[in-house]
Amino acid sequence: MTETLTHPSSSLAVGDDVADLLFRAARTTSLFTDEPVTDEQLAAAWDLAKFGPTAMNTLPLRVLVVRPGEARDRLVPHMAGANKDRVAAAPVSLVLAADPAFHEHMDYLFPAVPGVKEQLAPAADLREQMARKSALIQAGFFILGLRAAGLAAGPMDGMDFDAVDAEFFAQSGWKSLLVVNVGHAEGEGSPYPRGPRLSFDQVAQVL
Ligand SMILES: Cc1cc2nc3c(=O)[nH]c(=O)nc-3n(C[C@H](O)[C@H](O)[C@H](O)COP(=O)(O)O)c2cc1C
Repeated sequence: MTETLTHPSSSLAVGDDVADLLFRAARTTSLFTDEPVTDEQLAAAWDLAKFGPTAMNTLPLRVLVVRPGEARDRLVPHMAGANKDRVAAAPVSLVLAADPAFHEHMDYLFPAVPGVKEQLAPAADLREQMARKSALIQAGFFILGLRAAGLAAGPMDGMDFDAVDAEFFAQSGWKSLLVVNVGHAEGEGSPYPRGPRLSFDQVAQVL
């Protein structure tokens, strides 16, 4: 792979095949084949992503699976510019959202500390902040989970979030964060060449 983007593989605990699949060869994908994506594949991706850490094990990410047909027709108009065509061409699109009512699950998810659900119930603003931060982190885990399941993903935030929330989440109160197109990449999956990345030395301050 592109040596300039990476540190030596000898520093890794996984093989080059895994490093390539999850990171080095994986592209943000907008060009998909017609091969369908099954619910089982999406569930397999989730079954990895769910182990990623979240604050107090809150797991506030929620996933709306939007398949071609009536559901996709409801989503496309709320995407911005060229993202409309990207959703319209994807085998499946996921609306990733944060659930501010995540505290309802805390007795189950965080039994080590009883009473979290009751403490958070009146703190709506705090819950919304917490949900957003951990759900965004989970979105990253989920993209990697999709790659581990052999799928290609194209995350996008060019969309009208309020309109998507009104369209799909009026009952649940979920807050949309990102739409991720999912499928099998056609070729490299992108019309653009891979962009350069910042090196560790450029981003890290070591004290
Ligand atoms: C939070 C986020 C928002 C993005 N929004 C859009 C978008 O609205 N439309 C789009 O075409 N790509 C979008 N992208 C894709 C990025 O441009 C792409 O991931 C980045 O350029 C790296 O591309 P690569 O993975 O092919 O190297 C988004 C990616 C992320 C993570």
